[in-house]
Amino acid sequence: MDIETLNATARELVAEGKGILAADESTGTIKKRFDSIGVESTEANRRAYRQLLFTAQGAAEHISGVILFDETIRQSADDGTPFPELLARDGIIPGIKVDSGAKALALAEGETVTEGLDGLRERLEEYRELGARFAKWRATYSIGGGKPSEYCIWTNAHALARCAALCQEAGIVPIVEPEVLQDGTHTLEQSSKATGRVLQAVFTELHDQRVELRGTLLKPNMVLSGYEGSERAGADEVAGATLECFYRHVPAAVPGIVFLSGGQTDEDATAHLNAMNRTGPHPWELSFSYGRALQAPALKAWGGKPENLEAGQQAYLHRAKLNGAARSGSYSPEMEEAVAA
Ligand code: 13P
Repeated sequence: MDIETLNATARELVAEGKGILAADESTGTIKKRFDSIGVESTEANRRAYRQLLFTAQGAAEHISGVILFDETIRQSADDGTPFPELLARDGIIPGIKVDSGAKALALAEGETVTEGLDGLRERLEEYRELGARFAKWRATYSIGGGKPSEYCIWTNAHALARCAALCQEAGIVPIVEPEVLQDGTHTLEQSSKATGRVLQAVFTELHDQRVELRGTLLKPNMVLSGYEGSERAGADEVAGATLECFYRHVPAAVPGIVFLSGGQTDEDATAHLNAMNRTGPHPWELSFSYGRALQAPALKAWGGKPENLEAGQQAYLHRAKLNGAARSGSYSPEMEEAVAA
């Protein structure tokens, strides 16, 4: 393992004004997204949609890397250029989702453990050859009714760290993604407590399994009040609670924290990141690795119609630009109205 190369890649992924596009929806998840716009989830449609995103001119100004799904990393653009090569040519780092999903955790009602460690060393080798330079593994946790349990927290932390160690051995930057789901009616304090417990276990396991934090990125949830709660915390409260939790639990050796959007509205995801960066500098770069919050307007504008290709790309570029501004705390809601440049 060459830690300096891993560290350089991690820092490139959180370069000033830039963040990551998560376009690694599994076949099941992309079907849900396509269902919402009435488009059939065929291999051809998935390729067409990913091509729309990956050929958007100027995206590299705000997008440092893209997380791909197993099917996508093997697909090519119309002109035959493999997607990873297309991205790399634009200066965008290709990445890959390597877990095989969250499955029911045995003897733990309502909790999940993420699978995918068997054969991972060999798969990483193949993905590296296909052009991947970073890889993501996502674990999920729920809040409420005694959850998350210590059992769920430590089982997932162990798997996250095993994946991270294998990634580093293969010369691939691990994106460690523990996502405390923000559904429900929990308070900001309850979210902070659950997120803190999860982070504590994750960094203990990463340390015990010899993972070099300088060659990793953390992809966590923000600390939010539950989506179904009646009194939702505002942007400054969210930023304050999230920062307080992360200052307590995330070592400064981690080069960057790349938040997931996790079902926040596009505007909220941008405003929350902006509010955190406005109070910087912080020990780590605070950036984004958004799926829905970067893609939702693009998906809608495209609607599966070839004639809407440009409208879809403009919608994606607009969100990329606003989140790019949030990297330095220079986003303002008025920018939402401006026509995409
Ligand atoms: P969202 O931003 O839509 O939560 O997706 C990010 C991601 O990669 C979830 O694993």
